[in-house]
Amino acid sequence: MRSLPASVRIYEVGPRDGLQNETQPLSLATKLEYIRRLAAAGLREIEATSFVSPRAVPQLADAAELMAGLPVDDRVRYPVLVPNGRGLERAKAAGARAICVFTGASDAFTERNIGMSVATSLAVFQPVLAAAIGDGMWTRAYVSTAFGCPYTGRIDPARVVQVALALAELGADEICIGDTIGVAVPSQVHDLTVRLLDAGLPLDRLAYHFHDTRGTALANVMAGLEERVSTFDSSTGGTGGCPYAPGAAGNLPTEDLVYLLDRLGIEHGVELAGVLDAARFIAAALGRSVVSKVGQAGGWDPATGAATARSATG
Ligand code: HMG
Ligand code: MG
Repeated sequence: MRSLPASVRIYEVGPRDGLQNETQPLSLATKLEYIRRLAAAGLREIEATSFVSPRAVPQLADAAELMAGLPVDDRVRYPVLVPNGRGLERAKAAGARAICVFTGASDAFTERNIGMSVATSLAVFQPVLAAAIGDGMWTRAYVSTAFGCPYTGRIDPARVVQVALALAELGADEICIGDTIGVAVPSQVHDLTVRLLDAGLPLDRLAYHFHDTRGTALANVMAGLEERVSTFDSSTGGTGGCPYAPGAAGNLPTEDLVYLLDRLGIEHGVELAGVLDAARFIAAALGRSVVSKVGQAGGWDPATGAATARSATG
């Protein structure tokens, strides 16, 4: 087997991607307690909310109040999504120090998601990223529908590379490639990673964001690890999806990612028991049980053969 990275950054998207598609209103206190538990589990990058149109994503309409209530901890970064200059101004006013812009590889998706073509989004993001960078913020840029679009199907990887490089040239610290509707398979991840690196994107600026809609997310992480990618997004409890991408259910569950990395001997700094605690908390708040594999089975202690961190109900 090819050598894998010694350590990985786990970038938690539960409070944002996990909750944005949920129609049941959650209280501010519940969201803050969820984030507190995520940080207590050792997660150091927690995408907290979005400064988008409250009409587009009603669940995250309390973004400013949420930022005001976040636990103060210098070790934790709380990035927020901003779709335009208005979003950046709102995020700054609320005290955000890390922002993410988001576009896609497909015009059909991007038009529905943020009301503009990919080319227009790049023009809109140029001053947004410049202002954020000038302000000393950490910045990330997403390329959604990188492996397939719910409206137009197959995506040309050359297009993904073109959009990713354009965002890198605008100065984003990190480029995150999204499998928005969970259709990717490992051969695509190998191929796209090689193309991105060959085109000049530095490995340490590349992240992957897999949805587990069809059960391929962990296999795709493995493909990324084999190409020595070392940043992966996940959502505790496996909640999530984009309201403008039909079928985008289920982010890669953080607990499944933590289990894989633990068993591979890759450092990441996150405690499985703490992640499962946060997963159960948010699942209960949403009125369901944890559906992820590791959420149900628990971890595993090779010294005894016993499952670990299982809840009373399994
Ligand atoms: P629009 O309707 O095309 O444009 O929305 P607009 O400029 O005419 O704005 C419409 C209304 O929104 C106006 O209000 C604006 O003032 C207001 P009205 O006059 O009608 O009362 N507005 C705003 N309000 C608050 N904050 C703002 C803001 N901007 C305008 N920043 C817009 C364009 C981008 C605003 C809208 O389409 C939008 O908010 N979209 C967000 C969609 C979204 O959040 N999608 C989910 C995140 S992406 C994702 O999940 C994928 C990802 O996980 C990676 C992956 O899986 O691949 C990241
Ligand atoms: Mg997503």
